[in-house]
Amino acid sequence: MTTHIILDTDPGIDDALAILLALASPEIVLDGVIAVHGNVSLEQTTRNALSVLELAKASRVPVFKGCDVPLVKESLLSPETHGASGLGYAQLPEPATKPQVRHGSDYLIEQIMSRPGEVTLVALGPLTNVALAIRKEPRIVQNVREVFIMGGAIQHPGNTTALAEFNTFVDPHAAHVVFHSGMPITLTPLDVTYQCIFTPDDLNRLLKIDTPVTKFIADAARFYMKFHDEYQSIEGCVINDPMTLALTFMPEICDYQNLVVDVDISTGAGLGNTFADFYNYEKKKPNMKVATGVRPRMFMELFLERMEKLARKIT
Ligand code: BDR
Ligand code: CA
Repeated sequence: MTTHIILDTDPGIDDALAILLALASPEIVLDGVIAVHGNVSLEQTTRNALSVLELAKASRVPVFKGCDVPLVKESLLSPETHGASGLGYAQLPEPATKPQVRHGSDYLIEQIMSRPGEVTLVALGPLTNVALAIRKEPRIVQNVREVFIMGGAIQHPGNTTALAEFNTFVDPHAAHVVFHSGMPITLTPLDVTYQCIFTPDDLNRLLKIDTPVTKFIADAARFYMKFHDEYQSIEGCVINDPMTLALTFMPEICDYQNLVVDVDISTGAGLGNTFADFYNYEKKKPNMKVATGVRPRMFMELFLERMEKLARKIT
């Protein structure tokens, strides 16, 4: 059985890889992509989503524009991580296709409400669009099939502040709305993604196939690897977003705990910090399933095999 997926995303190098993984995976039907501000501006994330779909000959997948700023805070972009364009050193042509006219949050509501229990949402950027959709139509909470979120750092250092992960730091108020909405959430925090490194050897394996897809991956990943080397002394790069997508059809990549998770929306040094009540001191019902353990090579082999398959197909 295939899973119908809507991707809410801020491409972004690892977001772009998640789009490619979705297209390379027969378990998934990618119904639509919603862009959000985040790694780069909304204009740029929208353009990148369209360009990556065109690269993979999938311009049939509609792209919608969502929110261009967080709910409350000022915007924060991350050119040092993803480059000025959001795709590292990769230079894709200006997309021929245009985004759809409707706002992404309205598309999300319409899709979930017209097919109750069928649509799986995968959110790979700041949660602004998802929070807005919940506020506009609260019934999506009961009618979405599942929600997979890349975000947070539960027992792991932050990658944006000492305590906070990028997606939850950029729009902590949206994360707060979504986390407490009652949606059936699976969270993929840095705790598991930082155990999966896409290494220079992995990249060299892909480069044995010389096609536009592998060239794109190399040009994007080399920038991302440079960032990880300079800022975090990691050889390779952490591809958070495709790992989150992979859990929709290969959940056995991770181990999970049902936990009560919150996000700090106070104005101090902890803003955007995500934390779990592991001992359930407050006696609350868990509000999400959190990936807390991972089999790194299981994910990486899946990712590499799927990218090889896609690269051979798109010449
Ligand atoms: C998340 O933030 C962005 O840099 C990545 O695209 C990923 O979604 C990791 O913290
Ligand atoms: Ca992202």
